[in-house]
Amino acid sequence: MILIDGKATAAAIRAELKEEAEKYKEVCGRAPGLAVVLVGDDPASQVYVRMKSRACDELGLHHRQYDKPADTPQDELEDLIQALNQDPQIDGILVQLPLPKGLDSQRILDMIDPDKDVDGFHPVNVGRLSQGAPCFEPCTPAGCIELLRRYNLPTAGKKAVVVGRSNIVGKPLAMMLTRGGDYANATVTVCHSRTPDLGAEIRQADFIFAAVGVPKLIKADMVKEGAVIIDVGINRTDEGLVGDCDFEDVKDKVSAITPVPGGVGPMTIAMLMKNTVTSFKKRMRVGEFEAKLKWEK
Ligand code: GUN
Repeated sequence: MILIDGKATAAAIRAELKEEAEKYKEVCGRAPGLAVVLVGDDPASQVYVRMKSRACDELGLHHRQYDKPADTPQDELEDLIQALNQDPQIDGILVQLPLPKGLDSQRILDMIDPDKDVDGFHPVNVGRLSQGAPCFEPCTPAGCIELLRRYNLPTAGKKAVVVGRSNIVGKPLAMMLTRGGDYANATVTVCHSRTPDLGAEIRQADFIFAAVGVPKLIKADMVKEGAVIIDVGINRTDEGLVGDCDFEDVKDKVSAITPVPGGVGPMTIAMLMKNTVTSFKKRMRVGEFEAKLKWEK
């Protein structure tokens, strides 16, 4: 059984990005910039935002955090997004979800400039993703695919089951798995709370992507011998953080699996850093600059 080490993989990606960011900082005179907006005092969101800030520090990225009280009016947040859209130091804008009740999240996400939407949640990027066009990919599904790539686990011609249909993970992941290429040419089934026999669906799968947020939902009797499990679940329980799969129960039956914690979680932030550096390069026309340098040589 291969234990897919997301922590080490994410660290390797961050190191690659750090090198890239340092190089471009020198050439362009500024670092890639990320703005993170945190509204309210949800403890899990506070932890995630802190981890995102730390990753920016590690890579030498410019980052700004906007902490707003839970009763911040919609107008004020929309004004902040508009200002960040115009801010030349900022390449990526991230609004940590969920937003407190009373705020219209979709209206706020819709307002982010699609070219700064490093979370990939803007309808323009969702649409581009569905068309297989270049776009910002949502960070968690992108992290899942990157793990498959780096562990050389191609999904081409295989059966994949995605458990969960959220806008953040399940839906975009299903689109990404069918987009084409060695790691994205699976036959995909999306399961959800109204799927009559979840076990029967999952048993068909060579690749299982679990993203429902139900602790230890997936047991050994639901898993085909030799399947690969990518467990996106991060559930706080009395025994600590657990995934959507019962790791101890399934571990002897699978060929590869991500642990929780230390699997997909760290990859999400690494992919956010990647999207931020990509946005910076695009905005600073780094590709054109490099092409010009090559030409002049
Ligand atoms: N809340 C849970 N996951 C995410 C994410 O990937 N991005 C944002 N902005 N909020 C989240």
